[in-house]
Amino acid sequence: MNYKKHIAEKLSIENLNAEEIAAMLEVPPQSDMGDYALPCFKLAKTLRKAPPAIAEELKNSFVPDGVVCGVSVAGGYLNFRINRLRYAEETVKEVLEKGARYGASEEGGGRTICIDYSSINIAKPFHIGHLSTTVIGGALYKIFSFLGYKTVGINHLGDYGTQFGKLIVAYKRWGDKEKIEKGKLRELLKIYVKFHEEAEKHPELEDEARRYFKLIEDGDEESVALFDWFKELTLKEVDKVYKRLNVTFDSYAGESFYNDKMQPVIDELKEKGLLRYSDGAAIVDLEEYGMPPCLILKKDGSSLYATRDMAAAVYRKNTYDFYKCLYVTAYQQDLHFRQFFKVLELMGKEWAKDLVHVSYGMVSMEDGSMSTRSGKVVFLEDVLDKCVEKAARIIEEKNETLENKADVARQVGTGAVIFSALYNNKIKDIVFSYDKVLNFDGETCPYVQYTGARCNSVLKKGGDFGGFTVKSLTEEEYAVVALLGAFPDVVKEAGEKYEPSFVTRYAVDLAKAYNKFYIADKIIGSEENVKNFRLALTKAAHTVLKTAFGLLGIEIPDQM
Ligand code: ARG
Repeated sequence: MNYKKHIAEKLSIENLNAEEIAAMLEVPPQSDMGDYALPCFKLAKTLRKAPPAIAEELKNSFVPDGVVCGVSVAGGYLNFRINRLRYAEETVKEVLEKGARYGASEEGGGRTICIDYSSINIAKPFHIGHLSTTVIGGALYKIFSFLGYKTVGINHLGDYGTQFGKLIVAYKRWGDKEKIEKGKLRELLKIYVKFHEEAEKHPELEDEARRYFKLIEDGDEESVALFDWFKELTLKEVDKVYKRLNVTFDSYAGESFYNDKMQPVIDELKEKGLLRYSDGAAIVDLEEYGMPPCLILKKDGSSLYATRDMAAAVYRKNTYDFYKCLYVTAYQQDLHFRQFFKVLELMGKEWAKDLVHVSYGMVSMEDGSMSTRSGKVVFLEDVLDKCVEKAARIIEEKNETLENKADVARQVGTGAVIFSALYNNKIKDIVFSYDKVLNFDGETCPYVQYTGARCNSVLKKGGDFGGFTVKSLTEEEYAVVALLGAFPDVVKEAGEKYEPSFVTRYAVDLAKAYNKFYIADKIIGSEENVKNFRLALTKAAHTVLKTAFGLLGIEIPDQM
């Protein structure tokens, strides 16, 4: 039974249908205030009445039934008290019945959402700065799939630009094939840095690099082969990290894929009278919209990042007919996205409104090692390795006899890294600290994982359990039930706001509530009916913790 819907159907409010009323219902922060609440201040404007008066009127005409047993007014809120026994029984049974699909929905109705994320640059290090885009995008991909959307994960590779000419020059002069095959991106970075050092002394190297870049563009066999090799090395290396982070892509169409797809866009801009020339460069003037001009073509006729992105957006619309197209990129690129979204709108693409920049904050390392100034790069792979290693040491100390220690360390260490980028509101800058992310107490990944493992061990000890009816409920039991019941809405909101952290926070809250219940209420050894309910509650909590973490790409060990 859908409780929000049921309450909504029992209320009559001018100009609102039951669905709209249901969407307004909230779950109060403390359960002693009620189980659902209608914030009446949201109605004050249209009903032209003070919120408490609205609440009072609605209360007077409300007739309680077997599902909702009471209503009360608190300030501008109308609070509803539901039949908790019935709710608990239904909710727990529903979770057990639906299992891993509990919380999933069909709201997407098969509509397509493209998600452009991770989008690394070829032959450049895959570093800690790429963590957020990779795991936020990965989580949104899973969340939208869970909500019934068709999702297309796109890695918009940075595989175009003069840097590839530089790399060829560097490779030809100082590169060693074997060394690069072995050291991969780290070796490529070394010769790339060397190029810049040498080019300071010998500026003619820059011209040579431009020539090689042109050769790639013209399809020169040797240059293209080198470029393809750099690409292959990069993808092989990042793929290992993607596997560890549980993220996948459906397309690796990068910037160079759009080489032959920009001209029609440029022609259309011209036709629609949107192109201006400024110092020989082609631009779209955006002054009217409070933005600097969007650069379309350089003086020498070459295209820019925005030109490629516009061609990519058109291509995606034609290929996938998306309902939404998301770009998960740091807030430093806010202007870039606002600009080309605007240009597409000016071109009359009505779907420009469906392009969304999901922007997020920066990650830096606690010891300051990730400052671009110091020029030091922190490879994501190294952070993962170090976290797994540290997790292994902690596990060794805490639980020496644990089975599958190495695998648990992998799950805990990797999870901690993912969690660090998904715990806060995504726009916040974060400082990564090994000690903080691996703390077993507090609002951390190991804490949630430990709770999941705890549920599992309770279930193992409890063995098979039979049916139950809920005849009474402790506060602690109900707190777990209320959270279980809220899960479908949490996932939905996480999708609506492009905010995986809602799911992360939820998992922490559920873990906390479960632990409180575990400490307060005896499970095994209680009277049969109570024991059965408590084991069922444990199983439901375990299921939902796993699902929630699964949406984030984090695993929960069976034992810890
Ligand atoms: N490769 C770019 C960078 O590292 C990110 C690309 C984001 N996606 C896009 N369609 N512009 O900054």
